[in-house]
Amino acid sequence: MKAELEKIEKEALELLKTDLGLDEIKALQVKCLGRKGLVTGCLRNVSSLPQEERPKIGQLANKVKKVLEGAFKKALKECSAKEARPGAGIDVTLPGRPLLRGTIHPIIQIMQEISDVFSRLGFEVLEGPDIESDYYNFEALNLPKDHPARDMQDTFYISENVVLRTHTSPIQIRTMEKRQPPIRMIGPGKAYRVDSDISHTPMFHQVEGLMVDENVSFGDLKGILTIFVHQMFDETISLRFRPSFFPFTEPSAEVDIECVLCRGKGCRVCSHTGWLEILGAGMVDPAVFKYVGYDSDRYTGFAFGMGIERIAMLRYGIEDIRRLYENDIRFLHQF
Ligand code: PHE
Repeated sequence: MKAELEKIEKEALELLKTDLGLDEIKALQVKCLGRKGLVTGCLRNVSSLPQEERPKIGQLANKVKKVLEGAFKKALKECSAKEARPGAGIDVTLPGRPLLRGTIHPIIQIMQEISDVFSRLGFEVLEGPDIESDYYNFEALNLPKDHPARDMQDTFYISENVVLRTHTSPIQIRTMEKRQPPIRMIGPGKAYRVDSDISHTPMFHQVEGLMVDENVSFGDLKGILTIFVHQMFDETISLRFRPSFFPFTEPSAEVDIECVLCRGKGCRVCSHTGWLEILGAGMVDPAVFKYVGYDSDRYTGFAFGMGIERIAMLRYGIEDIRRLYENDIRFLHQF
């Protein structure tokens, strides 16, 4: 038993000289001095020794216990001081963990780009509320109650006279009510319609445009939109204006651009026509000027409204509009 005690002491002291961590020291302490520890075991066994050996071994066991208690106390103190130092336990040679940073949603990116192009052409960027009165969304845009043209848009009604705006055109009315010509503004924002499939979502984005002054002509509309398309896509893209109808513009047009994917040859995206519809436009109807109190003998103007999702899909080659709203970070991080 004497040899055993000496061995326990020697080994424990030697181990404490190596660079042990706090947990390792504590484990070793339990192994030697714990209730079922080695030294404790020896002390317990003293009583089973022959009478004459008991005092000597008992003394030795108590001495080893004292020595080790002191050694552990010291080791634990030194080790906790060391581990509390800033930077302890950190491997500074490891490469850093990359921070996951957010990106700007592709729709917002396109909206900003469109706003940049029109800002350079002298257009102000103005906004309006998503929840609109029937008056601003329909009535003042020459869409009286019970007029069949209201069926063009399946509307979310909040109450009889309050709707989620079905287009950004109410921003035109709000702007003209507050100001006198000359006006050059665009109004980006959300719009809502009861519509949902591969190319429609119930909430979508539009940019409205309005220019009112003396002598504004359809030629100005064509010129501005041509510059816009050339800056947004490519200088060589052709445009085409097709006659159309909107209650708030006369004459009205739908504007197509040459398919930016097949360059007019015909592909799946343009339904093999070579053309893509991107916006509705026209000369502001004198009936609308009447609602906002402008003199339609003196002023003329043009307006347009385009869908942003469509433009984002063309720019980024996105095939299904719903991808934009699934909040899949792997998808969104590509833009
Ligand atoms: N507001 C129309 C729509 O959402 C687009 C448009 C705007 C047409 C302005 C003409 C002038 O369909």
